[in-house]
Amino acid sequence: MKTEQPDLPLAIRIRGLSKTYKTGFWFTPTVTQALKNLHLDVYENEAFGLMGLNGAGKTTVIKLILGLLKPTAGEMSVLGGNIFNRSIRSHIGYLPELPYFSKQHTGRELLEYFGELHGLRGKTLRHRVDEVLEMVRMAKTAGQRVSGYSKGMMQRIGIGQALIGKPKLLVCDEPMSGLDPVGYKEMRDIFLDLKKGGTTLFLNTHILDEVERICDRVGILHEGVLKDVAPMKKILEASVPVDYWLDLDKSEASKLSGLPFKASVAGNGGIQIAGLVLTETLALLTSRKAKVNSVRPLSSIVEAYFLKTIGAQNYLMESGRNEK
Ligand SMILES: Nc1ncnc2c1ncn2[C@@H]1O[C@H](COP(=O)(O)OP(=O)(O)OP(=O)(O)O)[C@@H](O)[C@H]1O
Ligand SMILES: [Mg+2]
Repeated sequence: MKTEQPDLPLAIRIRGLSKTYKTGFWFTPTVTQALKNLHLDVYENEAFGLMGLNGAGKTTVIKLILGLLKPTAGEMSVLGGNIFNRSIRSHIGYLPELPYFSKQHTGRELLEYFGELHGLRGKTLRHRVDEVLEMVRMAKTAGQRVSGYSKGMMQRIGIGQALIGKPKLLVCDEPMSGLDPVGYKEMRDIFLDLKKGGTTLFLNTHILDEVERICDRVGILHEGVLKDVAPMKKILEASVPVDYWLDLDKSEASKLSGLPFKASVAGNGGIQIAGLVLTETLALLTSRKAKVNSVRPLSSIVEAYFLKTIGAQNYLMESGRNEK
């Protein structure tokens, strides 16, 4: 693949990985091919984001990487070895999609418990727990019971348990899902700190803003197939067509005739146009002396790239996202 850089050390190397789920009774089985012939390299010290719609196969990839599922075909190496080797597993941290922690314990008690599982004891354990609580911005709330934690606090304590053993590779399944803007920013800052500290990050997400700000490279998984892998820098530089919304006063409606807009809202006087005709449309509106109050992109470049890669016109229509 074009984006591979063969000289860099690999954290994850995947070749021809496939997974088929069989459910139901043996005489009427339901077969789902969740992952098809995946080839993927993740470099040491990079933040890699796997994007995909619901059901694309993202969690399946993570579970295969962690050895929680056995592949139907293919091979892989994680941190230079076999994931079923205990010494390799001890260098991996994992935040599952739906983490669950015992509610009657405090955040500190939970981290102490996970620290003990990693063989930490006494002063070393207390020191590491304090260190991790600082990292996940939970030092002040570590004495509270988990039952009183917000979703954001739960996710942060979840990252904390994954970090307690100083993992080289941190794997997170939808870490930002359901977070409010404050919780989201806190998580993002934690990931950016971890990146600076040299931890390799593998994130699954359908929140595209998340990958843009955290990930060095992204892969797009669609219906079990890896459609593309690209460095984030390249995506942001690419001129993927993005639609724009031009906000005009209602009184300007008569000046819109013949313009190449995709949609308009008469009540608010706005129009939606393709990025490719933005300059032309603005010039026409200027020549007709129409007052444009604001121009804003309707989707981010990452979102546009993602949708283009999965051939998403149909999905947009189904979800009605671009219909104003
Ligand atoms: N244990 C299972 N048994 C049967 N089918 C499964 C199982 N786990 C996942 N699948 C199916 O495999 C496909 C991929 O599922 P997966 O959970 O990997 O997707 P995902 O990208 O993580 O989705 P989401 O964004 O909803 O978490 C889906 O069609 C799903 O229904
Ligand atoms: Mg999932």
